[in-house]
Amino acid sequence: MTPVCRIEDLPEGEAVRVEVEGSPEPIAVFHADDGEFYAIDDTCTHQDASLSEGWVEGCFVECPLHTALFDLRTGEPTCLPARRPVRTHRVTVLDGMVHVEARPVGEAGGVVAEPAEIVA
Ligand code: FES
Repeated sequence: MTPVCRIEDLPEGEAVRVEVEGSPEPIAVFHADDGEFYAIDDTCTHQDASLSEGWVEGCFVECPLHTALFDLRTGEPTCLPARRPVRTHRVTVLDGMVHVEARPVGEAGGVVAEPAEIVA
């Protein structure tokens, strides 16, 4: 698990792009409108856009380049032009700090992300 930010530094509806141990690709961490934290690959599977720069709506992020919509819980795109899912990653909140554990490369999204585990 890699600590990526404090919870107060990531308000609801915001995202941050981070480097996480074990992932060759950057990861985007979101504080969604449902109050949960989610982590997915930062790079859109359509072309080279940073999803952390997209727009968060509920539990979805809209790609800033061609507006594909990805479900933060599953990594699945819900509309074209993206066709392939992004990886989802495990998030844990520990003592007010958000941690991310990268899913191995080659494991696609499509696995429902567990809500962030909050450890007091
Ligand atoms: S780069 Fe994301 S939809 Fe095209």
